[in-house]
Amino acid sequence: MKELSKVASQVQASTTLAVDALAKQMKADGLDVIGFGTGEPDFDTPENIKEAAIKAIRSGETKYTPAAGLVPLRKAAAQRLKADCGVDYAENQIVIASGAKHNIFAALMALINPGDEVIVPAPYWVTYTEAIKMAGGVPVVVYADEKAGFKITAAQLEKAVTDKTKLFILNNPSNPTGMLYNREELRSLADVCVRHDLYIISDEIYYRLVYDNGEFVSVAALGEAVKERTIIVNGVSKSYAMTGWRIGFTASSKEIATVMANYLSHSTSAPSTISQYAALEALNGPQDTVDHMRDVFQERRDYIVGRVNAMEGVSCLSPEGAFYIMLNISKLKGKTLGGRVINNGDDFSLAFLEKGLVAAVSCVGFGAPDFVRFTYATSMENIKEGMDRLEKFLKS
Ligand SMILES: Cc1ncc(COP(=O)(O)O)c(C=O)c1O
Repeated sequence: MKELSKVASQVQASTTLAVDALAKQMKADGLDVIGFGTGEPDFDTPENIKEAAIKAIRSGETKYTPAAGLVPLRKAAAQRLKADCGVDYAENQIVIASGAKHNIFAALMALINPGDEVIVPAPYWVTYTEAIKMAGGVPVVVYADEKAGFKITAAQLEKAVTDKTKLFILNNPSNPTGMLYNREELRSLADVCVRHDLYIISDEIYYRLVYDNGEFVSVAALGEAVKERTIIVNGVSKSYAMTGWRIGFTASSKEIATVMANYLSHSTSAPSTISQYAALEALNGPQDTVDHMRDVFQERRDYIVGRVNAMEGVSCLSPEGAFYIMLNISKLKGKTLGGRVINNGDDFSLAFLEKGLVAAVSCVGFGAPDFVRFTYATSMENIKEGMDRLEKFLKS
């Protein structure tokens, strides 16, 4: 048989989904596993959004839409960006796709030529490096350690730039670290991008989940020179508990939006029309459920951070956004826990799942081998039980 595609074969399986799959299998086998794995809100999609989808079905909104998405939905996305981030886009600069992940892929396909380098700060969301490879690009990882609050500096970014660099991927607030870049930090990173003529993909999917009244700043709001080279990625998955509806969007220059829409028109056409109507209600309808969810996440964050930092051998920073903590396990290296020698996050998360019956995600695949990611997008009851199990496991 002839070989499979070289490009596709180098793509790694998603580690977050792998842990989740193992945990689900253990649950199916009757084991009482608690999942801190996948990053999706445990809340149900708000009723008004569900009703909008049902209404769309009943009124026959079940046909194709334009490849870039329904015009009213693109307008709603533009209005939300204006209201929440202070950035102006026309409807023909917005592209709707089947989830923010799909938007990122389409944006990479629109920008990358074979061999182009893309700078990705680590710890990073696993999809970035794999999607860059799928698009024919070369990921260039820049590490930010815990002491730096998991944030890279402009000097680090500048050092990574070569004559092949095309693009910088920023994720703010970040998955997996939960860290938030402030206005000055963004400005200094953006200056490097402008100076070296780099595009910026700014993944802002967690922008509504910022705690302690912190200020979210979209990098595109820093002026026209930055905005024209930025592709904002956003969507309804995290803010509105709509992960299964699969709607994301980008805002960019009209030129990039057109290339993306053409690309999508021959791959998926538009996303599900019914989901687009649901997303329209999410973006246009009442926003109080978003604030409520954010407040609940903040309470859970405070609890989990407090519990972790009261334990021997592990620690974590208090994240400013998103819904993840990075458990630092470096002090456990070389020790045996749950019958396994701990050398990195993979060993810890496997041992903890097998012996502690808790699924958390190793950050080896995120470029941070001494860390394990826990999401607090799960009930307080699960978080309490999970932390009790962690305490017990650390003493095992
Ligand atoms: C940083 C980041 N961007 C994008 C996504 C994908 O969002 P969607 O479900 O809309 O594809 C995720 C989901 O985990 C994420 O963490």
